[in-house]
Amino acid sequence: MKKSIKDIDLKNKKVLIRVDYNVPINENAEVEDDTRIRESLATIQYLIEQNCALIIMSHLGRPKGKPDAKYSLKPVAKKLQELINKSVKIAEGIVDEKTKQLAKNLKNGEILMLENIRFDPREEKNDIEFANELKSLVGDDAVFVQDAFGSVHRAHTSTYAIAKLLPAVCGFLLEKEIKYFEKILNSPERPFIAILGGAKVSDKIGVIENLINKVDGIIIGGAMAYTFLLSKEIKVGNSLVEKDKLDLAKGLLRKAEEKKVNILLPIDHIVATQASDNVEYKYIDSIDIPDGYMGLDIGKNTVSRIANIILSAKTIVWNGPMGVFELNNFQEGTRQVALLVANATQKGATSVVGGGDSVSAVKKFKVADKISHISTGGGASLELLEGKTLPGIEVLLDK
Ligand code: 3PG
Repeated sequence: MKKSIKDIDLKNKKVLIRVDYNVPINENAEVEDDTRIRESLATIQYLIEQNCALIIMSHLGRPKGKPDAKYSLKPVAKKLQELINKSVKIAEGIVDEKTKQLAKNLKNGEILMLENIRFDPREEKNDIEFANELKSLVGDDAVFVQDAFGSVHRAHTSTYAIAKLLPAVCGFLLEKEIKYFEKILNSPERPFIAILGGAKVSDKIGVIENLINKVDGIIIGGAMAYTFLLSKEIKVGNSLVEKDKLDLAKGLLRKAEEKKVNILLPIDHIVATQASDNVEYKYIDSIDIPDGYMGLDIGKNTVSRIANIILSAKTIVWNGPMGVFELNNFQEGTRQVALLVANATQKGATSVVGGGDSVSAVKKFKVADKISHISTGGGASLELLEGKTLPGIEVLLDK
């Protein structure tokens, strides 16, 4: 167990906090989806109540170690100010003289946001000198708060090196994320099922290998299902297949069989000649996909087959959509799965949804408020499901 902001005296302290405000910004330089900002508010509000002087760090996008207006955190600071109803100063830089002065003059109860931490090439190098410069903004008596769940799989200066220099604890968001992932991975109520989808088997190999030892069943949909089907010599037409992963897929199916973990693959499909709403699509009432067509969603028999499994599960982890749900013609399988996971949750299951696409799906199908936990981390949640220790968590103080 890691220490949180509740386990340490923060009254009147200077606090350096790392959040993950890597949010989509539209062409009018406005925040398109403020979920990650909202999810950080509880921690920020608590720190302000403790009369802390708060310096916020985040990255946005991948600006390659140099300032780039496109990746400025200014729109984010504006959004945070609106949401928190309090002034948020935004620095022009990170550890330049002007920013140092702003940090020095920062009073208790005030908030200063640094510019995109990745504007400095030393951020991604986990650089001790850069960490010391960041520390000098807050001084020796300060505290480091890690609340950037989406970034704790990165051993960067603002997620790792800095945590070695100051007392380092987690914020409420990180604490909540860890609590849900620990619960499902270490003491799940059974039956425990995983629903995995998305384009590539290669993205999910580690997850499947780890979860085979933990779950009672795995439902596989999305394009990655076709690689598994082809590895069983089922016809997949023109569906997306990772040819170089066929042996691996076969090996994973064999391993699951040995462990008596049921892997459920699609048994019928929605197909078209291409992934587009402008071409004709059709339902195939068979596991084989005819030549010239590609599978783009799971069919109704697959949905019926997995419905009872989802509804009787007590723990569900979902990562990756069942089809091309962004397109109207191929959204139904993912919509049904979203509704089933929401129903199971209302019946008492613990559900955790992670990964950008499945999170968009639960939002699109309006069931987000019926899921136990929607993770704010893509890569970070995948690495936890792979059973990895994440550096940005590991470095924090133990209870
Ligand atoms: C994310 O959006 O997954 C995190 O902010 C991490 O971003 P990165 O993959 O650029 O490190």
